[in-house]
Amino acid sequence: MKTKIEKIAQLILDAKNIVALTGAGMGTESGIVDFRSPGTGLWERVNPDEFASIHSYVSNPKKNLDFMLELGMAIFKAKPNKGHKALTKLQKLDKLNGILTQNIDGLHQKAHSKNVVELHGTAYEAICMGCGKIYPITIMIDKFRSGKYSPSCEACTGLLKPNAIFFGEPLRSETLNQADRFIEECNLLIVLGSSLVIYPVAFYPRKALSLDAKLAIINIQETDMDASADVVIHEKIGDVLPLIVNMVKKEIEEGH
Ligand SMILES: NC(=O)c1ccc[n+]([C@@H]2O[C@H](COP(=O)([O-])OP(=O)(O)OC[C@H]3O[C@@H](n4cnc5c(N)ncnc54)[C@H](O)[C@@H]3O)[C@@H](O)[C@H]2O)c1
Ligand SMILES: [Zn+2]
Repeated sequence: MKTKIEKIAQLILDAKNIVALTGAGMGTESGIVDFRSPGTGLWERVNPDEFASIHSYVSNPKKNLDFMLELGMAIFKAKPNKGHKALTKLQKLDKLNGILTQNIDGLHQKAHSKNVVELHGTAYEAICMGCGKIYPITIMIDKFRSGKYSPSCEACTGLLKPNAIFFGEPLRSETLNQADRFIEECNLLIVLGSSLVIYPVAFYPRKALSLDAKLAIINIQETDMDASADVVIHEKIGDVLPLIVNMVKKEIEEGH
């Protein structure tokens, strides 16, 4: 009987086009709390409708920005962890075509991974809700800290918001199209640290399977897709992904 780690390594060795789909569980080992882990998840502390929805933001930017600044500060000081680094290593072995991430923390890019699609935007930018102008997030933080509780655009005076997707906001069609292409072209999808409850991400493993791709999941908690996956590991990403990648590297180097 092969171990689950060996099984995922074998799936990686056998696949031609591999995509990783990452969620907030990818960032917890860098000190960024996720949303739905029992006991520690953000949504056990605050109600997303009140603090992270587009409606609540427009009606009370200050209240929402207080909360977002706290989350933002954890993100800005975070460093890539063993999991992010293992994905970059896999990419260097030519065994990872791209990364679809729900995270807004930029940690895949900080770890020098390529072809990263940020489905939910990024914490590092602000966007004007009026004209769409993009600013570095520091502009918004400076304005907010100097008492501008409704930070406005220098070009059109529209309200600025962090360039991350809030609840109640649609995802960008360009991003969705890119993600669709990744899913359609892959023959192995590796889900890392996502509860798979937020759409469209929850749909991607189903879509990949329907197109005959293999599915591997590494997530501490169970997900609704576990029963359909080829391999599921309920462990921390940082504890297993580096072992898997080292195994793949060894096999490639030994020419198997
Ligand atoms: N780092 C970030 O940028 C960040 C942080 C919080 C939330 N989010 C947002 O979370 C939303 C979607 O939910 P989601 O599915 O990404 O997160 P989620 O909180 O719903 O699920 C995270 C999952 O990861 C698992 N997990 C936690 N730490 C893990 C680890 N070290 N190894 C393996 N599994 C681990 C948990 O068991 C949980 O099932 C997105 O909208 C995303 O934008 C992003
Ligand atoms: Zn503007």
